[in-house]
Amino acid sequence: MRTDWREAEQALGKISVVGDERNQEVEISGGAEGLSCIGIGTDAAVFRYAPTPDYAFKIYSDHALHKKTAERDVYKRLEGIPYFPTLHGEGPNYLVISYEPGPTLLECLMEGIPVPARAMEDVDEARRLARERGLNPRDIHLKNVILQNGRGKVLDVSEYVKEGNDKRWEHLAWAYEKFYAGFEGRRIPEWLLDAVKKSYLKLDQANLNLEEIAARVNRLLARFK
Ligand SMILES: Nc1ncnc2c1ncn2[C@@H]1O[C@H](COP(=O)(O)OP(=O)(O)O)[C@@H](O)[C@H]1O
Ligand SMILES: [Mg+2]
Repeated sequence: MRTDWREAEQALGKISVVGDERNQEVEISGGAEGLSCIGIGTDAAVFRYAPTPDYAFKIYSDHALHKKTAERDVYKRLEGIPYFPTLHGEGPNYLVISYEPGPTLLECLMEGIPVPARAMEDVDEARRLARERGLNPRDIHLKNVILQNGRGKVLDVSEYVKEGNDKRWEHLAWAYEKFYAGFEGRRIPEWLLDAVKKSYLKLDQANLNLEEIAARVNRLLARFK
């Protein structure tokens, strides 16, 4: 097992990641030479260290620290499946995983990078293989999937030991089938993505169904086209 990631230990100790209970993105304080933040979530911030560029260091906020152990155990169970990053080690408040280059699907939509059907199928396959290992793949949304050489890869496996289906991926796959063809290769502005997200969150409020959401989204899209 490679341990050269340990070169980053000292630098990582200079960062603190602060989160809260309201599911907002975490905030970072501190810094160290060679360390750059490559992604932010609601539980953690992810860094890369210049002298050891193959690794990504996922540093959890204190309030999400329990998820570190959960995510580590999930990575162990996913070992060998090529649709997920690889686990390399851990520190007191971080996991060391393979750095995975490529834009997230959200960045693809914002930048007009085409998302091929193959990448969507890869995510389905990733989920199937995770289920085969007794896991419950969930929390799969636009920021947790990246496009890598035309293929899909799934990040952020911390919730796979939880019960229930948040249906996020099913809804994205449905939207891909229903709307994506007209947008492939076009930059989708942030206001539109936000508006779609707001409509989508209303799904939780039970009284709206998918077809009603689709009608709303179509009205929004008409303004864009
Ligand atoms: N292995 C990785 N390689 C490259 N970027 C990553 C990697 N893991 C996470 N990221 C980036 O960091 C962001 C936040 O990481 P994530 O694991 O989703 O944190 P959270 O659990 O807080 O949602 C991701 O959306 C992605 O942009
Ligand atoms: Mg995430």
